[in-house]
Amino acid sequence: MKYGFFDNDNREYVITRPDVPAPWTNYLGTEKFCTVISHNAGGYSFYNSPEHNRVTKFRPNASFDRPGHYVYLRDDETGDYWSISWQPVAKSLDEASYEVRHGLSYSKFKCEYNGITATKTLFVPKGEDAEVWDVVIKNTSDKPRTISTFSFVEFSFSHIQSDNQNHQMSLYSAGTEYKDGVLEYDLYYNTNEQEGFYYLASTFDPDSYDGQRDNFLGLYRDEANPIAVEQGKCSNSAQTCYNHCGSLHKQFVIQPDEEVRFAYILGIGKGNGEKLRTKYQDLANVDAAFAGIKAHWDERCNKFQVKSPNQGLDTMINTWTLYQAETCVVWSRFASFIEVGGRTGLGYRDTAQDAISVPHSNPEMTRKRLVDLLRGQVKAGYGLHLFDPDWFDPEKADVKPSKSPTVVPTPSDEDKIHGIEDTCSDDHLWIVPTICKYVMETGEESFFDEQIPYADGGNASVYDHMKAALDFSAQYVGNTGICKGLRADWNDCLNLGGGESSMVSFLHYWALQEFIDLAKYLGKNDDVDTYTTMAEGVRQACETHLWDDEGGWYIRGLTKDGDKIGTAQQTEGRIHLESNTLAVLSGAVSQERGERAMDSVDEHLYSPYGLHLNSPSFSTPNDDIGFVTRVYQGVKENGAIFSHPNPWAWVAEAKLGRGDKAMKFYDALNPYNQNEMIEKRIAEPYSYVQFVMGRDHQDHGRANHPWLTGTSGWAYFAVTNFILGVSLGFEGLNIDPCIPTDWPGFEVTRQWRGATFNITVQNPDNVSKGVKSITLNGVAIEGAIPTQADGSVHDVVVVMG
Ligand code: GLC
Repeated sequence: MKYGFFDNDNREYVITRPDVPAPWTNYLGTEKFCTVISHNAGGYSFYNSPEHNRVTKFRPNASFDRPGHYVYLRDDETGDYWSISWQPVAKSLDEASYEVRHGLSYSKFKCEYNGITATKTLFVPKGEDAEVWDVVIKNTSDKPRTISTFSFVEFSFSHIQSDNQNHQMSLYSAGTEYKDGVLEYDLYYNTNEQEGFYYLASTFDPDSYDGQRDNFLGLYRDEANPIAVEQGKCSNSAQTCYNHCGSLHKQFVIQPDEEVRFAYILGIGKGNGEKLRTKYQDLANVDAAFAGIKAHWDERCNKFQVKSPNQGLDTMINTWTLYQAETCVVWSRFASFIEVGGRTGLGYRDTAQDAISVPHSNPEMTRKRLVDLLRGQVKAGYGLHLFDPDWFDPEKADVKPSKSPTVVPTPSDEDKIHGIEDTCSDDHLWIVPTICKYVMETGEESFFDEQIPYADGGNASVYDHMKAALDFSAQYVGNTGICKGLRADWNDCLNLGGGESSMVSFLHYWALQEFIDLAKYLGKNDDVDTYTTMAEGVRQACETHLWDDEGGWYIRGLTKDGDKIGTAQQTEGRIHLESNTLAVLSGAVSQERGERAMDSVDEHLYSPYGLHLNSPSFSTPNDDIGFVTRVYQGVKENGAIFSHPNPWAWVAEAKLGRGDKAMKFYDALNPYNQNEMIEKRIAEPYSYVQFVMGRDHQDHGRANHPWLTGTSGWAYFAVTNFILGVSLGFEGLNIDPCIPTDWPGFEVTRQWRGATFNITVQNPDNVSKGVKSITLNGVAIEGAIPTQADGSVHDVVVVMG
């Protein structure tokens, strides 16, 4: 069963029937103002932080995705009313037709009902802390029509998200004021002029307005049947106290074939409503702002475009996977319909991994995130697992919390430095490859010398921060020399404490390889020697202690008492994805063991929806292993298809040279391929999800937690760098694909440091891996392609064989 299709020309997903089995969401905003919005126009806005600067209200985990950012229309001759998005009024689908286009940072809602076609396009203009609703109402009937429009948003009780649930004082400390087409909402006790004022404005002169939610909705009613809309007029309420909303109403008489167009603007900042109202009264400014958003994403997507025999891969890589990865880099794990603003801290490992996927499309944000992460690293080398980058932002350091409650208070040292028992064993290691990729992309080698403070005091160069990360993992090992698991490793629910984690030792090995390449490039020979010796020690410990020959795979680790986790002898948690994929990805293991391990992964963990994280799932609680043994079977970390490490398997297969396997695993997880089985998938087909129910759960195949998952960054990185094989080293651009044998070839356009490379890969011998020749503008080239002049365009032909 399907509910829509991909419109690749417009980079949109088009929902053609709105009764989707779950809200399908999108993200509006590329800077500080963000709205998470569903195909029903349900959702919420926040500024910078969904926890601390919440603009509009949302009720999570309800059976409706409400409230939202709605426009109601009313036929003033009959009293009949509807909303441009299907919800909240929800006209019968026999009478009205709806279409939703989720595009990159905008969503466009269209409704045809009873001779009126209306569209509403929501987006956040670049450079502005506001959301524009571009509304067009067209009369397609043959008689004049009198149509009223009403906006509706429910303002957040307070700028603090949790206050929406439990802070009664907010009822008495906020109020709305109305003046000249602007309803301004003032959080009285918040004196920060930017963050303490929200507003809703219209480009028309309203006929009536409501700032009091209960006046607009009416008693014992909800968003489906507001009394104001039913009666055709708001009550002109605007005052202090109680619950607040933004409704501006206007009546239009529209001739046959005529259309009216106007905009609503939802935003923050005192006085901004007035300013933007004036600006957008010239609708050419709305068009220009929208074109700015389109151009923003075209520019980013065009850094890497592919044309291959796999349409699903092209659609996802050219548009959706990059878009999702960028969303994660900017909004981390803050805000979705699942994560609704309970926290704003950066997940250390999450951000470090997300950032590896976007140095080409968003170098500024990659750099910013790397600096954030390095500031969140302590001298001992590990990272603060969840931290707010504002803690370490010198620009915010002197803002006293008492002056502005919207600024996160500076934490005490005790809060910042949790100590070793609260440390995750993998966090810090991910920054090493990401830093290398950032510099390879940008050429900013001076970044390695930049001095950045540690969270617990003292400065070090970025290069030395990297060494501290590697040294920490070398130091914190258990009896067998494998890294300790500590509070958790990548798997939040594997809580080994003093036990040992295979996954982290393999990750350590990978990070070491990246660092050794860097040290060689910089001519730091002592470090090359030191870290090569360290890496060899790690490799030997892994091969000696982690291989399970009976099963033909690498175990997941050891408990603090030395019991192995994930052996052929066990009946639960026998085989795990992370250790086996990272064993191969890291380059630590031989081709023979690598192939056996990945064959075991295929045999025991594969499903048509992707690879399971472990199998069989645990059913017996065992606190020496961790919380994973207490999670329901087939769910999340306990035997679900946890998406994030799936791309590690694609990389592993690509490194082994098995392109058919890499594509088999890629295709299984790719949401695009599930577009026509939404009755099973439920979630968005344009977004990777955190996990898909595993075979030990009755809903096997159901996808959960869309959008904010490390899967997107890794999927993007794996496909572009390892399957398509277009990657950067310190010496330049390398092309070494690993593709399915039945691909005759593919094309990639890659922009790098201002030059454009039109790459054609030919595969005449139907191989998976191996490059016979590369030409640059017709001239044979050995090794990496060096940087080329800014603005230049080059033809690269690669022949595999
Ligand atoms: C979630 C967390 C991530 C963790 C993963 C596995 O996605 O955000 O940090 O690695 O779960 O537990």
